[in-house]
Amino acid sequence: MKSSTRIARAGLELDLGLGTPINPAIHQATVYAYPSLEDLERVYQGETGYIYYRNGHPNATSLEDALTHLEHGDAAAVSSSGMAAISALLLGCLQTGDHIVADQNAYGGTFALLNLDLPRFGLTVTFVNAQDANEVEAAFTPKTKWLHLESLSNPTLRVADIERLSALGKAKGATVCVDNTFASPALLNPLRHGADVVVHSLAKYIGGHGAVMGGALIGRQSVVQAARAALLRFGGTIAAFDAWLALLGAKTLELRMQQHSHNALSVARFLEAHPKVGRVDYPGLESHLQHNLAKAQLTKGYGGMMAFELHGGYEAASAFVKAIYPAIPLAPSLADVSSTLSYPVSTSHRALSPEARAKIGVTDGLLRLSVGIEDINDIIADLEKALAEI
Ligand SMILES: Cc1ncc(COP(=O)(O)O)c(C=O)c1O
Repeated sequence: MKSSTRIARAGLELDLGLGTPINPAIHQATVYAYPSLEDLERVYQGETGYIYYRNGHPNATSLEDALTHLEHGDAAAVSSSGMAAISALLLGCLQTGDHIVADQNAYGGTFALLNLDLPRFGLTVTFVNAQDANEVEAAFTPKTKWLHLESLSNPTLRVADIERLSALGKAKGATVCVDNTFASPALLNPLRHGADVVVHSLAKYIGGHGAVMGGALIGRQSVVQAARAALLRFGGTIAAFDAWLALLGAKTLELRMQQHSHNALSVARFLEAHPKVGRVDYPGLESHLQHNLAKAQLTKGYGGMMAFELHGGYEAASAFVKAIYPAIPLAPSLADVSSTLSYPVSTSHRALSPEARAKIGVTDGLLRLSVGIEDINDIIADLEKALAEI
């Protein structure tokens, strides 16, 4: 073999010896090699095997197995982002002319997809206050095929009564989809409460360390299959390294969620008692309008997310962001091990009109806080100092 040949084929036959790696390998391969046409055909016919990265890879399969288990589903499909998972579900399962009922409190990106993109394909959407089951029921038409909910809404932490709304969706022949990103499968399993499919942004609690981009959908076999087919055709494959990282994150999810929940409850109580703070949206607070529902549904903790409104609107919010930097930085994502802040008006909810934002309580003084797993006394000291400065 000439050296160019040797180099082009290098690394394929490394012998690992007796030990086995303690973590799974990262399968960074665009395509898989086959010894014969017959073997390749067997994989096309359904035998286990991989062909082309976009169609699936071992790191995606391992993550799908773990998430199926965590959410108690029949099957899962992972994707390049949470939005890719939501898009694949809607585009893979619905037809032109179908009608969707969706929570008006859903994540801004989801709201924009439903509000701006789907109507271009002849799908109609009615946004409802999903906390009012009568309003949800009234929005159904004979064409309604989909109900989109968030277990804990972003950013105002409204709680969806999944059992009741799933029964309603079922009775009307609609697929019930719950975005469970904020609660995570460690605190809530919507499928066990009657939902048909659950979606996640893996960038949040499942990844957990601010390093992943990915999404997942878990649920009934038929729904997952339809969404998976859409994902393959539209091209929403998760990268092998992101799938690998997300699986690593999933291993400590339950432990992290305990600490996030423990810290967040203390922070919410602290903020609620502070004179510069108006409203605090946290389902673990007795003052939360749906605290009883939250208590019944979230039996292992209320999670790490909350929103709080500062007296003084934009000026107060802006001053607070500067005062608390860099201890708790403005970083418009959430769910990392370290605490972060977001300002929904100019980040997640910037696509909404001021009227639409006002309707869901996203006001100029509202900050969203993702409480991390740091020592609780340090978090409270940072908040106290910044509040004193504004
Ligand atoms: C509740 C919720 N769902 C879905 C998404 C979208 O996920 P991704 O950013 O991975 O596309 C987000 C993103 O912030 C979110 O907060």
